[in-house]
Amino acid sequence: MNFSFGTGDATKAKADALLIPLFDTEVTDAKKRAPALAQADKKLKGLLLKTAATEGFKGKAEQSLSFHSHGKIGATRIVLLGLGSRASFNNETLRLAAGRAVKALGRSRVKSVVVALPVLRETDAGVRALVEGFELGAYRYDRWRTTNKEEKAAPKVGSVQLVLPGDLKRTKQLDEAVSLGRKVAAATNWARDLVNEPAGTMTPTILAEQARAMAEDAGLEISIHEKEEIENLKMGMFLGVARGSVEPPKLVHLRYIPKDEEAARRAPICIVGKAITFDSGGLSLKPTDGMLDMKTDMAGSAATLGAMKVIAAIAPPFPVHAYFGACENMPSGNAYRLGDVLVSRLGKTVEITNTDAEGRLVLGDVLAYAAEQKPAIMVDLATLTGACMIALGHYIAGAFGDDDRAAWSVLEAARAAGEEVWRLPITELNRDVLKSEVADMKNSGERYGGAINAALFLKEFVGSTPWVHLDIAGPSQSPKERGYHGRGATGFGVRTLVELVRRRTQEINAPAPDAAV
Ligand code: BES
Ligand code: MN
Ligand code: ZN
Repeated sequence: MNFSFGTGDATKAKADALLIPLFDTEVTDAKKRAPALAQADKKLKGLLLKTAATEGFKGKAEQSLSFHSHGKIGATRIVLLGLGSRASFNNETLRLAAGRAVKALGRSRVKSVVVALPVLRETDAGVRALVEGFELGAYRYDRWRTTNKEEKAAPKVGSVQLVLPGDLKRTKQLDEAVSLGRKVAAATNWARDLVNEPAGTMTPTILAEQARAMAEDAGLEISIHEKEEIENLKMGMFLGVARGSVEPPKLVHLRYIPKDEEAARRAPICIVGKAITFDSGGLSLKPTDGMLDMKTDMAGSAATLGAMKVIAAIAPPFPVHAYFGACENMPSGNAYRLGDVLVSRLGKTVEITNTDAEGRLVLGDVLAYAAEQKPAIMVDLATLTGACMIALGHYIAGAFGDDDRAAWSVLEAARAAGEEVWRLPITELNRDVLKSEVADMKNSGERYGGAINAALFLKEFVGSTPWVHLDIAGPSQSPKERGYHGRGATGFGVRTLVELVRRRTQEINAPAPDAAV
């Protein structure tokens, strides 16, 4: 998609559609009416507002109204897009609305769009959200469709002109907002592709190769460790999970190291993603319904990869490391068994009481390895437990960690990024459920507090590292079309990680006054 800026009267611009995002009062209150709406209505001799009234369009969030302009304005069509009240507005409102709009416009074969931007408190951030909403909303996963070719070949929205409100002028900051929005959206759409790809064609080997191609393109360092090296690293839990599959495991380590020497010496951010390319449950086999979506059990690693792609472009003044241990969880004559005891990289021993609790085993070894970098903060993203989905539903990730500063920095980044993350406790009260009679601990406890139990298990492997665990089992997938999401992979986590890196960059470049003390 091509984005450009314009100024002046948006109703004069030639395009297939004029999109007017509107706060409720800009529709209902004549004194507050948006200039573009007033202008278009005047040219249409009052028909626009009259139709809006009869159709019940009041600028509420999720409302929209499409109207043919019959040659009375520059654009062929006018689309009014509700944003709801100014009081409840944030940039995510705009991102969702843009996503909805681009889907509808695509269905009506619209190729060029003019947007009459509303007056916003932060125009830059709003423009970025709008760009992201357009690009994310236009995403489709149709790689394996050979029928409805016509649908595939249908024209897509190709150009978007953003008309600035009032006498605002195009600035460097606005150009950068568009550029960042496009990068973040492209990386998120790529992460969605990785997750939506069937497990048969997104094996650990292919996932690692995708990481390599991205790293080479983005200028990141990458190491891909084979099984022998994983053995040398004594990752007994990772190897235990991997052994049931004929697909070899891969330990992937990506590095962004700043060119500046002082910057390169700063404590890094480490991110770790769960990368089970298919989770059958192993010998504790999942029933069909539970297994159906388990190609998506590498969504954490996909988000990590998407974020690294953007981080390479941002070039922050500190190193960022990303890790994932990719493997399949399969039942076979060589699979790890119930009752087996695995020896982790840290030497702690684990009795296997459920082979379907495999994510924590791989993550435990990889988190211990990542912690060796002594990061300022370590964040993992994992489709770890069904229990977290039971607790928080389809749209919210759970955040776990004892370090309040680290937890708040992730929660704040998520909020700014428009991703919903809520903190859950890692309570020691649940510790007993991981007690084993034969080893240091077991890998799965009781059903109750399942998401907490998984986080407690991970905590055993991070030592004193400031660490935040994000259980993204719910929001990694969207069960329906919603805003800029379609059904399937969402790319959840890319924006939060990018924001976390941007915020630390800002802190380093402009330290708060008390930080100097
Ligand atoms: N990958 C699953 C968790 C999951 C479930 C993600 C549904 C997305 C949607 C994970 O490996 C798993 O199987 N967890 C078990 C843990 C249990 C055996 C302790 C679960 O949640 O049932
Ligand atoms: Mn599992
Ligand atoms: Zn899993």
